[in-house]
Amino acid sequence: MSHPTSVAPMVARSGSALKGRVTVPGDKSISHRSLMLGALAVGRTTVTGLLESEDVLNTAAAMRAFGARIDRNPLGVWTVDGAGLGSLVEPETVIDYGNAGTGVRLALGLAGTHPIATTFTGDASLSRRPMGRVLEPLRQMGARIIARSGDRLPLSVRGPGTAAPITYRVPVPSAQVKSAVLLAGLNAPGQTTVIEPIPTRDHTERMLLGFGAAISVEADGSGGRIITVTGQGELQPQDITVPADPSSAAFPIVAALITPGSDVTVADVLLNEHRTGLLTTLQEMGADLVIDNIRETGGEKLGDIRVRHSALKGITVPAERAPSMIDEYPVLAVAAAFAEGATTMLGLEELRVKESDRLAAVAAGLRANRIECEEGETSLVVHGRRGAIGGGTVATHLDHRIAMSFLVLGLAADAPVTVDDGAVIATSFPTFQQLIRELGGDLSPAGEKAA
Ligand code: S3P
Repeated sequence: MSHPTSVAPMVARSGSALKGRVTVPGDKSISHRSLMLGALAVGRTTVTGLLESEDVLNTAAAMRAFGARIDRNPLGVWTVDGAGLGSLVEPETVIDYGNAGTGVRLALGLAGTHPIATTFTGDASLSRRPMGRVLEPLRQMGARIIARSGDRLPLSVRGPGTAAPITYRVPVPSAQVKSAVLLAGLNAPGQTTVIEPIPTRDHTERMLLGFGAAISVEADGSGGRIITVTGQGELQPQDITVPADPSSAAFPIVAALITPGSDVTVADVLLNEHRTGLLTTLQEMGADLVIDNIRETGGEKLGDIRVRHSALKGITVPAERAPSMIDEYPVLAVAAAFAEGATTMLGLEELRVKESDRLAAVAAGLRANRIECEEGETSLVVHGRRGAIGGGTVATHLDHRIAMSFLVLGLAADAPVTVDDGAVIATSFPTFQQLIRELGGDLSPAGEKAA
């Protein structure tokens, strides 16, 4: 289980147009879930295209600590040998989840209804993030928890002998909370129901169905969903191919949009409707985006996205869209800096509790680069450039998406943009630097000469 090893400032400079066809790594959400569900199934699950980033490797280490056998063959295919639902063993040591919010929250769901004691910790970013949102339903299911004040990591959980199935209405739109309760419900007798007033990414539901769990999803009549799992069945191992992560694709897409002369295709991107809010928003802003080769694999829609440099205009992004682009606001703010007029983003309260306070980190990064913005409690207004921009150094606060977003800014700004720590990018997109360079972007460790 690992943390980024050391801080590594990076700098991006504008130069040539970005051109080419690239594939970004596998989807982070699906990668975590593949390893976890594989660990709960009886028999061998294979995973092709797993995202091999620090966050996901932490999940692999955690599932091994819970007793699964997980290997990677020389061709890069991962195998997970699970022992079945209810079979998690007590880890021998503390599980260090590094930077991975999704990993630790979903693993809490798993551990919380097994009669074992587990202690979780994480890096400084993860230890600041709220865990109460998953601990509350787990307490209702019978888990005993000792956590640092404010329900923060490090914390220990001991699941009950027999967990109580619950009906739980998620108080914040969060796929992590929904998923933690559903995973906990897998080891509770009877039916566990999650009511989700605002729909969020549905990978857990789709994958549980694929693994043969007894799960039903219904509309609640007012735009939300009612999801029910019947626990203590058996999961069937699966052969999974992980589609490319749309949240990672967002970086080359925005980079191409704002860099004159660019023409980039990002292939095989996951197009799940709960993940495409950024594409909708960019199209409304006037982006030249063409999505083709649309197909379905493993129950998910994917396609190739071709993007060319475009003149963008500012728009208002409605609050209802936030769940479908929750990780993409930092890079949208960068696109907005190149738009004509103001872009207003509403309903951003969840950005305050991501890997960093993303609303504050984005606003500070924009200002450091001479881009005007207004940070509200739950909103952000970005004013499109009126003069020269760039030239600043951005504090990443252990947040991979802040680092990548501002490096993208630097690819098209008037002066180089430095981020104080590029090492954090390895949590979700270890090949970021290589991929941007492959497209012709000028990205390098700070202190090195321009490419
Ligand atoms: C994720 C859900 C989202 C997202 C995160 C991945 C998931 O978090 O920001 O990167 O895989 O379930 P929230 O559930 O906190 O919105």
